[in-house]
Amino acid sequence: MHVYDLPTPALIVDRKRLKGNLERMAEVVAKAGVKLRPHIKTHKSPFIAHWQQELGARGVTIATVDEAEVMVYNGIKDIFMAYPVVERYRALRLARLSRLATVAVGVDSRAGASMLAEAAGKYNTKIGVLIEVDTGLKRSGLASIGEVMDLASTIGKLPNLELKGLFTHAGHAHGEDMEGRRTIGQREGEMTVVIADALRKAGFPIQEVSTGSTPSAAIVAKVPGVTEIRPGTYVFNDGSLVASGMVSWDQCALTVLATVVSKPTPQRCILDSGSKSLASDKQKNVPGFGSIKGLETITLSWLNEEHGVIESSSLDLGIGDKVEVIPNHACTVMNLFDEYYLVEDGLVLGRIPITARGHRHLV
Ligand SMILES: Cc1ncc(COP(=O)(O)O)c(C=O)c1O
Repeated sequence: MHVYDLPTPALIVDRKRLKGNLERMAEVVAKAGVKLRPHIKTHKSPFIAHWQQELGARGVTIATVDEAEVMVYNGIKDIFMAYPVVERYRALRLARLSRLATVAVGVDSRAGASMLAEAAGKYNTKIGVLIEVDTGLKRSGLASIGEVMDLASTIGKLPNLELKGLFTHAGHAHGEDMEGRRTIGQREGEMTVVIADALRKAGFPIQEVSTGSTPSAAIVAKVPGVTEIRPGTYVFNDGSLVASGMVSWDQCALTVLATVVSKPTPQRCILDSGSKSLASDKQKNVPGFGSIKGLETITLSWLNEEHGVIESSSLDLGIGDKVEVIPNHACTVMNLFDEYYLVEDGLVLGRIPITARGHRHLV
């Protein structure tokens, strides 16, 4: 089947581009001598998670217990939940999973650590924990050595927990140019390593110093003392990463296939992909709501739920034409579809469910 014969809107993953992106990151970690624990929130797909493991990744990073369950039930043996767990239902589901796979969880509070210890006790298991350090994003995480040290002492006194290390996420590197990425990546790595060394001096057996997003990965991987990186978006890349000069358009592996359903004026086309398939979140320094693959200077000017509006003086498109739209933010778009089509040279190779999308709140 040719990709243009698919019903639209359809989510497309270009197999060759994906493969290139996976191989490039595998090379970055091999050269730097660090582990790769990719964040699967970008693809939400065990099929791609296994491909990453085959190329040398050690386990995966996840943000929700749904993602954790989907990965473990599909054969991924090592997961790190880089998200605060403070509620009983989350902690219990993770404790249950830790009987089936190696499970580590990020913590930044006593409340979270106590909840995890209690849940692990109920399942008679041990959960690894990594303390979250805030290296500048100002989201979750502790920003001072003293606070990290206090939490490490608390964890040390709790049963069923094993303090494995520290982690951080410098997501503010997104949208930065090369110089900005270098500064943020360097600080991300150095600050976490300094705190890890202080903890070791105080007698805590810190093994892991886990850092790194797609924009900072190649920089922070080279900071001495960093043991693993957790990029996610690199599998697909997106308009936002192109805008910051990180990658080129031909490294963007995720697109939304759309049909031109209306052309009311020579300068305006309407696609059947609106906010329900492209997401409407704006990205730093990125114009519009997605770019047309192969004609990337043409962007979608605005979206309604089922309408994507292109306004351009040079529109060589007619009703019924198919186009692929490169999203500005790959991860949110992946979450909007139930499945993606794996495509190579225009040929559809598979229809693959996005099993870890959304929230299910199973108990
Ligand atoms: C804690 C954490 N680690 C790693 C990542 C991966 O970052 P990126 O998608 O920029 O590669 C994210 C992304 O949101 C994250 O929140």
